[in-house]
Amino acid sequence: MASPSASKFLWGASSAAHQTEGNNINSDWWYAENLEGAVFPDRSGDAVDGYHRWEEDIALLAGAGLTAYRFSIEWARIEPAPGKFSFAELAHYRRIIDRCVESGIEPVITLHHFSHPRWFAEMGAWAHPEAVEHFARYVEAVLPILSGGVRYVVTINEPNTLASVGSVMSLTELVAPTNMPEPQPALLDALARAHKRAVEILRDAGLQAGWSINTRLFHPEPSDETAAKNAEHLSQVFVKDFLEIARGDDFVGVQAYTYVRVTADGVANPVEGTRVTKNGWPFYPEALHYGAELAHRVSGVPILVTENGVATDDDTERIEYMEQAIAGLRTAIDAGAKVRGYLHWTLLDNYEWGSYLPTFGLVAVDRQTFVRTPKPSLQRLGEFARL
Ligand code: BGC
Repeated sequence: MASPSASKFLWGASSAAHQTEGNNINSDWWYAENLEGAVFPDRSGDAVDGYHRWEEDIALLAGAGLTAYRFSIEWARIEPAPGKFSFAELAHYRRIIDRCVESGIEPVITLHHFSHPRWFAEMGAWAHPEAVEHFARYVEAVLPILSGGVRYVVTINEPNTLASVGSVMSLTELVAPTNMPEPQPALLDALARAHKRAVEILRDAGLQAGWSINTRLFHPEPSDETAAKNAEHLSQVFVKDFLEIARGDDFVGVQAYTYVRVTADGVANPVEGTRVTKNGWPFYPEALHYGAELAHRVSGVPILVTENGVATDDDTERIEYMEQAIAGLRTAIDAGAKVRGYLHWTLLDNYEWGSYLPTFGLVAVDRQTFVRTPKPSLQRLGEFARL
């Protein structure tokens, strides 16, 4: 089995199981989406049928000249009931890893990307005293399929989002970045312990482990001392606390999209007239430059850009965003950040946690036939890889 090259900068795309596979029926998200009176405009349903069409998806990446694909393993499929593991599902994910390697695509694996097995959420998710043990048992179960061809493993995606919203079972309304509650210290603590346990297990097997952080930027109103204090506090509790935990890891995943405006009263909507994306976030490709610098300064470990992208129907705008973001990343590298790769969010227009409207994909997907149609931005990203 070919082993991933040690020096090559990775260029590719990121995805998450629940957003792409479809019919993730044993998960907490599936349960919440299908409740009578669910708060979500859309249910995931078949998603983009990635569970069956992963070969096409890898071929799209390879065909564009990309060299990496980040995807997640769905805990609810591997362990649909506590302590009961599916060998068939493990074999399914191993086939995806093998195909990536055969196609010259380095698989970057995420073990946990927002969704949980329903049983885990029902027992209280990360608030349960044995949550860490349950997660460690799942990591041990996945370990055998990671051997050979995998280098980077993301333990938990955006613990800083998870620690503020808990599991989807505790959501009573959709949470936008502007009204997200502050991370709960007890959840942060459990997630940090789960992460460190996973790092230990993965490292013992020769893998490189880290978690991926939303490096959300908080922009205070100019010349407003109270706003500046608020922004500093928010940056500490939403981002820096989590980057500090990454110290000593093999890498940290940086996920950067936009900024959040902060006034003397706290988090606020963007100023009237701000250029916003399809999901209402300020169009701000500079987020990657500042996010990478912040992650470098606070964690001191190498960075893998695990997510960066924009929700838009206009692919020219996506290319504009991507080019500016990558230019900013270069500035961060010139200033000393060690960056291992850039993984764009996301390969396919997929299920955006409650809705199919925000389209972040490099590839469009027909919602009935699941036919994939690459957008020019996929080729543009491939050009970066060939430089
Ligand atoms: C998440 C992705 C999500 C993206 C865009 C990130 O916070 O990890 O799952 O689709 O943001 O909202």
